[in-house]
Amino acid sequence: MIFSKASKPLRGELQIPGDKSISHRAVMLGALSDGVTEVTNFLPGADCLSTIGCFRKMGIDIELTEKGSAGADVVIRGKGLHGLSAPDSVLDCGNSGTTTRLLAGILSGQAFSSVLTGDDSIRKRPMGRIITPLSSMGASIESIPGNGCAPLQIEGRPLHGIHYTSPVASAQVKSAILLAGLYADSPTSVTEPNLSRNHTELMLRYFGGNVSSSGNTAEVLPEPSLTGRAIAVPGDISSAAFFIAAASIVPGSEVLLKNVGINPTRSGILDVLRAMGGRVEYLNAAGTPDHTSAGSPVGTPGSDSDASHAGKCAAGPGEPAADLLIRSADLSGTVIEGSMIPRLIDEIPVIAVLASAAQGTTVIRNAEELKVKESNRLEIIVNSLRSMGADIEGTADGMIIRGGRLLRGAVIDSHLDHRIAMSFAVASLIADGETEILRADCTEISYPEFYRDLGQLLR
Ligand code: S3P
Repeated sequence: MIFSKASKPLRGELQIPGDKSISHRAVMLGALSDGVTEVTNFLPGADCLSTIGCFRKMGIDIELTEKGSAGADVVIRGKGLHGLSAPDSVLDCGNSGTTTRLLAGILSGQAFSSVLTGDDSIRKRPMGRIITPLSSMGASIESIPGNGCAPLQIEGRPLHGIHYTSPVASAQVKSAILLAGLYADSPTSVTEPNLSRNHTELMLRYFGGNVSSSGNTAEVLPEPSLTGRAIAVPGDISSAAFFIAAASIVPGSEVLLKNVGINPTRSGILDVLRAMGGRVEYLNAAGTPDHTSAGSPVGTPGSDSDASHAGKCAAGPGEPAADLLIRSADLSGTVIEGSMIPRLIDEIPVIAVLASAAQGTTVIRNAEELKVKESNRLEIIVNSLRSMGADIEGTADGMIIRGGRLLRGAVIDSHLDHRIAMSFAVASLIADGETEILRADCTEISYPEFYRDLGQLLR
């Protein structure tokens, strides 16, 4: 797909598609609850459809109705904590790490065997990070190729509660353990080095689970009786990020992004944008995040912290949302590290584009997790931005970007990584000449209508 430099500013408003992480969890917890869970603004991206496919194979009735820009309505008829049935074939998680890891936690406690697999990317991603803690709970979970990667063979077993100190700040690891903990014989807790997204904790509590959080530790009590509930999924800040960046760097832009989830464990990009001199305004903010029960908000520097704007959705698990008004601005470099990293981990590719457009140096540290995402994002961001003329250097755990150089169009391979494709579509808007993105349609993973929406703002 070919892109050209933006000939005019981005203008207008967009309905941001539903949050991917929350959509996955709505299906999983809906399936494990008694009664009906009705989800609105569900993200009908390929990753979330993989989760639906897996639960259908385990006997759960799930109806999906596409609603165009309003996402999809999904109705899940849950069968309770012990209501899943043995799948008659391999469970295919596609490209989705969230499906693979969270499902591994759930499957560890079932009374049946199963095999989890996925695409080429999933079969290269590290599963040892969940195999180790789940095994210490008594799970029988094995990497079939023996290299710590999927396919995974899981034999359901009685599980024991553990306290696990995770070496990585990862919501997928934390959630796999907490979900297995629903089937354990005693409480299960996870402490992570920095707080990762807390959607599992919020939604479990919303469905009637007994979950407590304090600092970087979350604990779950076993055998809750979960009850299906309505969930209005807020827009995905990781999808909004591409327009936040595009509107910030294309001069004269002004865009309104509607109903964006601003859970403080996800909203790091807004803090970084402010630190860089970006202009973001919150309109129609709804509710207040449940900091006392969901853990304290992490690193929200600045007086105009997003936490002060956040709130409970009308029908949802206490996920705050707001409309974001973004205007273009002269940006300057910044430092991104430590507890900020899990709050913006999926946004780093497009933040690197922002940093290329900023004056001065941006340093990103402690981001080695980027190497084990859908692709090795660290390497691909550095090589691709450099091929567009950026002054960028990879480090062992991040990158250093000396911004302000004019970018030029180049041929960029997405490596079938949706966030790489979308980030470089944004970079193309400030690059002289043409940018060609190879294998650009991988955006179907998290944002099937991305190019249409980008085109709409440029019209
Ligand atoms: C996710 C957690 C993050 C994130 C991924 C979605 C989730 O992964 O990168 O896109 O839904 O829990 P890690 O937990 O591995 O950091």
